[in-house]
Amino acid sequence: MKKYIIKKGDKYWPSNEIKKIAWIKDNKIYKQADKNPVKFWDKLAKEGLIWEKSWKKTYIEKLPYFWWFKGGKLNFCINALDRHLKDKGDKTALIWVPEPTSEKTVKLTYNELSKKVNKFANVLEKLGVKKGDVVAIYLPMIPEVLIAILACTRIGAIHSVVFSAFSADALKTRLQDGKAKILISADGYYRRGEKEYLDKKVNKAIIGTKVRKVIIVNRLSKNKKYSRKFISFEKEIEKADSYYKPRMMNSEDPLFILYTSGTTGKPKGVVHDIGGYATYAYWTTKWNFNLHNDDVMWCTADVGWITGHTYAFYGPLLNGGTTVIYEGTPDYPNYNRWWNIIDKNKITVFYTAPTAIRMFMKAGEKFLKKHKLNTLRIIGTVGEPIDKDTWEWYFKKVGKSRCPIIDTWWQTETGGSLINSLPGVGPFIPTISGYSFPGTKHIVVNEKGKKVKDGKIGSLVQLSPFAPGMLHGIYKNPKKYKDTYFKRFRNKYDTSDGAYIKNKLIRITGRTDDVIKVAGHRLSTAELENAINKYSNINESAVVSIPDKIKGEVPVSFVVLKSGNSTLSLEKQLKKHIDKTIGPIARPSKIYFVKELPKTRSGKIMRRILKNILNKEKPEGLMTLVNPDSVKEIEKII
Ligand code: WT7
Repeated sequence: MKKYIIKKGDKYWPSNEIKKIAWIKDNKIYKQADKNPVKFWDKLAKEGLIWEKSWKKTYIEKLPYFWWFKGGKLNFCINALDRHLKDKGDKTALIWVPEPTSEKTVKLTYNELSKKVNKFANVLEKLGVKKGDVVAIYLPMIPEVLIAILACTRIGAIHSVVFSAFSADALKTRLQDGKAKILISADGYYRRGEKEYLDKKVNKAIIGTKVRKVIIVNRLSKNKKYSRKFISFEKEIEKADSYYKPRMMNSEDPLFILYTSGTTGKPKGVVHDIGGYATYAYWTTKWNFNLHNDDVMWCTADVGWITGHTYAFYGPLLNGGTTVIYEGTPDYPNYNRWWNIIDKNKITVFYTAPTAIRMFMKAGEKFLKKHKLNTLRIIGTVGEPIDKDTWEWYFKKVGKSRCPIIDTWWQTETGGSLINSLPGVGPFIPTISGYSFPGTKHIVVNEKGKKVKDGKIGSLVQLSPFAPGMLHGIYKNPKKYKDTYFKRFRNKYDTSDGAYIKNKLIRITGRTDDVIKVAGHRLSTAELENAINKYSNINESAVVSIPDKIKGEVPVSFVVLKSGNSTLSLEKQLKKHIDKTIGPIARPSKIYFVKELPKTRSGKIMRRILKNILNKEKPEGLMTLVNPDSVKEIEKII
């Protein structure tokens, strides 16, 4: 990506309109927080949340682990629901837009949501779910997913949400790793006007797992018959008592697990704690999106990803806000859909991914022109670097040059946004995410872990004290946790992203490991290779990414067969196989069948060289290869 030089004059400073309503109006906050970050977070945790019991020591660090508010006691659900009931019981907590335009938008007030959550907590308890148990959730963007996750937090059970577009195999792996006994799912959902069935995938996924019962939401069709393992969400909730006494939890007890891709074939279960995560979700939502009581926030991310957890659900609810969720795709029935949703629901904060913006950019401005979009105040982006053209289009066409773009950099591991400009402070510069969030610190280092000069690209690391929203380990895998985040650079959290910093402003340049971002979704090339290698007659494979105009990056795969020749149908079959084993998002855009993969003497596949060939660059390091001829062969077929 081209380096963007910060010049005065092309900065989009906060407007007076935003300054007037901003929680944070100037950059003094950064200095204040920096003086004593632990004290800063201590105060914010007390101010932002309701605690049953306070803590003695705010932050304890014994790397690779660290604890925030240890000894503190609270219940997450009290903070997301109960505390709002007195003043905001009749306020809309959730607005759900179903995909079919024939169905009505559904609104749930805090009172209504709370009643359902209490009832569902009783349902779970009746099924034997206890504090500390893992409950798996495989649901689309429907209100029941929010009811389910909140019910878990009320009991103190650990939820593990699996993205509903993932395959049965992907679900199975996650069920096995978390050893969930209860799975909450649905018969299906609507996507692009079609019925997508989940129950078939569930039936397949639970074989060979510990799942005893599946609670199934009826979204598509009534009166469907299931085996005795399945029970109806609707029927159970109807029978249940309407109050469940929330269990008091330790601040450092786990709130949820969320699996994400790393550099190996196996997804990692990222664990987030209650107190630290809640504090971080609360304040980053409030300050980054400048959330006030009358705001309506729409974060378009699916709950299957961390963005959905933190900014579609938990952040807005902890703040007593109103959040919008939408079941379907942005282009159904046409490209007007999203903008309609914004106007109709008077959305003030809109948060999405560059890949979606690029899609609308390609579709053309005409779809935007019919809509006012005049309720919008703040627009945000997340998931991958945003290029200057996309940024400017978003700023001008969606934000009408009024709304600041909050470009939030973060990860599944960080729980909430760590780097972004604040609405009332700025600056808003295309491709620059901004400053580290108050009370957090990042630097850019070289391979030896030494800080590089301003403006130089290197590895982005986080410094102690680590932010309260940070992960608390990888589920049942302490070694992986230590090796992934705290091994390469001493006492620093390794983000695996490249970046440069100039005048404290941070520009992210992208992943430095074998993780790729397809339409903002995180995928590991190793996971894809594993899936491909399992297919019959495949000897080995290598996956690399190439740039894509809409999706940012897409995977391309190089495959060596055990015997015989490739056929067109084999390419099709392999793509289908990926859909089945991981999900359609991981489908390679192209599969090349080759005789040999370029390898070093020690047998390491040189993916970088494959990338060079695809990008029509001169491959470097051919000297180290044991089979340099393989490169010529591959060049011929591309
Ligand atoms: C990776 C984390 C955090 C929510 C969604 C993704 C990339 C994320 C940005 C941004 C440039 C970004 C990084 C990061 N990324 N936000 N604003 N600018 N890159 O979470 O799936 O865990 O992926 O997404 O490479 O490491 P995730």
